[in-house]
Amino acid sequence: MLKFSSYSLLSKLNLFKCTSRDYCGSDDREKSAFKNIKTLPPMGVSHLTNLFQEDKNDNKVNLGVGVYRTEENQPYMLPVVKKCALELVENPDLNFEYLPVLGNPEFTKAATELILGKDCKAIKEKRIVGVQTISGSGALRIAVEFISQHLKKRTCYMSNPTWKNHSLILKQAGFKTLKGYPYWNASKRNIDIPKLLAALNEAKQGDVILLQPSAHNPTGMDPTKRQWKQIAQVIKERNLFPFFDVAYQGFATGDPDRDTWAVRYFVKEGIETLIAQSFSKNMGLYNERVGNLIVVLKDAKHFEAVASQFTIIIRTNYSNPPAFCSRVVAKLLTDEHNKKEWLKTIGEMVDRIKKMRKTLTKKLKELETPGTWDHIEKQRGMFSFLGLPPNQCDKLLKEKHIYLLNSGRINVCGLNLNNIDYVAKSIDEVVRQEISLRNQNDQVKCHEYLTEDREIEEQKSIN
Ligand SMILES: Cc1ncc(COP(=O)(O)O)c(C=O)c1O
Repeated sequence: MLKFSSYSLLSKLNLFKCTSRDYCGSDDREKSAFKNIKTLPPMGVSHLTNLFQEDKNDNKVNLGVGVYRTEENQPYMLPVVKKCALELVENPDLNFEYLPVLGNPEFTKAATELILGKDCKAIKEKRIVGVQTISGSGALRIAVEFISQHLKKRTCYMSNPTWKNHSLILKQAGFKTLKGYPYWNASKRNIDIPKLLAALNEAKQGDVILLQPSAHNPTGMDPTKRQWKQIAQVIKERNLFPFFDVAYQGFATGDPDRDTWAVRYFVKEGIETLIAQSFSKNMGLYNERVGNLIVVLKDAKHFEAVASQFTIIIRTNYSNPPAFCSRVVAKLLTDEHNKKEWLKTIGEMVDRIKKMRKTLTKKLKELETPGTWDHIEKQRGMFSFLGLPPNQCDKLLKEKHIYLLNSGRINVCGLNLNNIDYVAKSIDEVVRQEISLRNQNDQVKCHEYLTEDREIEEQKSIN
């Protein structure tokens, strides 16, 4: 099978481009139905990954794409996930018949309980619709389609900053107005709760508020319980519509129950909501695309109608979801021993991330890198928002071969004991270069000023 590593490789190879008039003459080309299709710029993180793969430098470090890496810088297949998958393959009853349109019921039940807790009142009262989706992105997409088509909402507030794909999905599915609520306070390097609440207080009744309950992408900063209560109160008072994106359950604290405290609180408060859930990160099932969408209703009598509308959305998109890894997840979550092993593994992954945060902070402090760095250790989940301006991120990429997002987001999992010194020293150099450049500019300005001054004085004395 042909695989293209990047746009540039594609263009270098010039594959599939007709060169002979025998195949497609210029007249024919003018008639092409595709002639007015515009090429879009390459997409964020995947473009960064392509550039990384093409880079021949020995020191290169990939801190871009949001995937877990071991201390040896390798992808990680969680042992219990592999065990469950192998057991399923060996089961003589296994078949690949279609799943129902809304997915594998055993999976959606287990996945929903993982987010809301087994004793959730809404589950007991059958006020939940669970829909298996094509991972977290698929859950977001069908949720937004439903919200836009059936709840007739057109305005959504997202944290500023947020995951880049949020706005793309919302726009593509019919949202007309996208607004940001303040989240990251760049100077204090924490969450700007007063401004966040003020923005929600200005939202109009029914507006959708997209929230990440834990391990926020890209900042790694989550509200405290007290702050979540304040957010829930405004949402309730102003009758706003919360929509949760749970892509990193377990990655903030190492405990999946604690990581969804905010969602459980909203549901307990009787607030209706939609919840997009992904198993890409916390089960390492990135390319298997396993996700779930949970709709929390006030009244079980709306179940049939809502489920039927999701049925038509999915039927007309991809008909029904893939089965295999939904079975893996269900097997893992419904067996006490498997679940225990999974929780242990998550704990180990989170410990490694914490260790990398601590080490990077320590090294930057030892180097006396100008600025404050404690926030790296305080942040949670896969990502750290370093607080570096875009030009410094650009320098890290172009001069140091360290691949990070231009916003200053790094994937902490990309760090290990072999590359962390190089990363810390490179950050230090880039920050210092900027300061010395600024000082030089100030001196030039000062010199120009003094020269101008002297010329004026000389002029005066001549006159
Ligand atoms: C905030 C956020 N939401 C959702 C997703 C969706 O992930 P996936 O489609 O792989 O489940 C991601 C992935 O990076 C993410 O960062």
